[in-house]
Amino acid sequence: MERVVNFLKDAGTYYLATVEGDQPRVRPFGTAHVFEGKLYIQTGKVKDVSKQIHANPKVEICAFKDGVWLRVAGTLVEDDRREARQSMLDAYPSLQGMYSADDGNTEVLYFKDATATFSSFTGAPEVIKF
Ligand SMILES: Cc1cc2nc3c(=O)[nH]c(=O)nc-3n(C[C@H](O)[C@H](O)[C@H](O)COP(=O)(O)O)c2cc1C
Repeated sequence: MERVVNFLKDAGTYYLATVEGDQPRVRPFGTAHVFEGKLYIQTGKVKDVSKQIHANPKVEICAFKDGVWLRVAGTLVEDDRREARQSMLDAYPSLQGMYSADDGNTEVLYFKDATATFSSFTGAPEVIKF
């Protein structure tokens, strides 16, 4: 799991896919943070992406770096604890201009039942479950 989060951080940007009915939706994301041994991402409840996740928490993310692409498929679970939100904001000070732990908008979610697959054109895929 450390390898997965380090890859996401090194890539800088990953793309988060959700579903809305039968329509896939995808957008760039950057937050990736380990808290209590789980991989968390951050968003705002006002965003469509948040509404889509709450309607259907099955998501997939994809990042690419140095000839290797990573996909993480799984289910996102909201962690509504203040300390979880604050841990994310502490890890991303740049978010603190837009978000705070008690603003009613900031939301952090962790991956459950995740399958991470590292792929390249040269080697066999490597699968990590967490
Ligand atoms: C490089 C980059 C990283 C981003 N990271 C995040 C993020 O971690 N969380 C977030 O909520 N929005 C992030 N955004 C903004 C979302 O992509 C943007 O709000 C998007 O429109 C949300 O999807 P939606 O319109 O389907 O709700 C990022 C944007 C960029 C360009």
